[in-house]
Amino acid sequence: METTLLVSHNDITAEKVDIIVNAANRTLLGGGGVDGAIHRVGGPDILAACKVIRQERGDLPTGQAVATTAGKLQAKYVIHTVGPIWTGKDIPAMKGLLADCYRNSLSLADNLRVESIAFPNISTGVYRFPKELAAEVAIRAIKRYLNQFSSQIKEVRFVCFDAENHEIYQKLFSQG
Ligand code: APR
Repeated sequence: METTLLVSHNDITAEKVDIIVNAANRTLLGGGGVDGAIHRVGGPDILAACKVIRQERGDLPTGQAVATTAGKLQAKYVIHTVGPIWTGKDIPAMKGLLADCYRNSLSLADNLRVESIAFPNISTGVYRFPKELAAEVAIRAIKRYLNQFSSQIKEVRFVCFDAENHEIYQKLFSQG
C-alpha cells in the first residue's frame, strides 16, 4: 500500500493526524520548543503518562520512542522520541541515532495500527543538528522503513515550524 509523504508549514499541535511526534528529552518531563507546545496544548494528562513511563523505565535513551495519550490534542497518541544533541563529532553515529528516532516512531505507530503521523524536525532546534543534514536523514529513514516493512500508515507529514526547515524540505521534496 502506498504511503503519502507530505511537508506542512505549521504548528504541529494544530495537525489533524492520529499520531503527533514530540522531540522530547531523556527525562520525558517536558521542555521548550515543540516539547513545550505539545505539553501546553495537550494538557497535564500527557506529563502524567510520561511520569508513569519514567517510573517504569527511567530516562528514555536517545533514538528510542514511547507513546502516551494525546490529552487535549486532536490526535490519538503522542509519540515521544529523543533526538541526538549535535556535537559535530561522530557524525555517522549522530545520523544513525536521528534515523532511529524516525524508524522507532514509525514502528511504534504501526504497532498502534494508526494511519497518519506527523513529525517535527527532530533535533534541529535546541539540539542544534544541522537542518539540511537532519532533513536528509529524516526523509531517507522514513523511505527506508516504508520500503522494508509492510506498513499500514497511509500518511507521514514532516511538519516544519520555522521557514528555514520548510524551505529545506520543499527543496528536497522537489528533488524527489
Ligand atoms: N510545532 C512544530 N515544530 C516546532 C514547534 C511547534 N509548535 N515549536 C518548535 N518547533 C520546531 C523547531 O523550530 C525545530 O525545528 O521543532 C524543531 C525541534 O526543535 P526543539 O523543539 O528545540 O527540539 P530539539 O532540537 O529536538 O531539542 C529537544 O528541546 O524543548 C526541548 O525538552 C526538549 O530538551 C529537549 C530539546
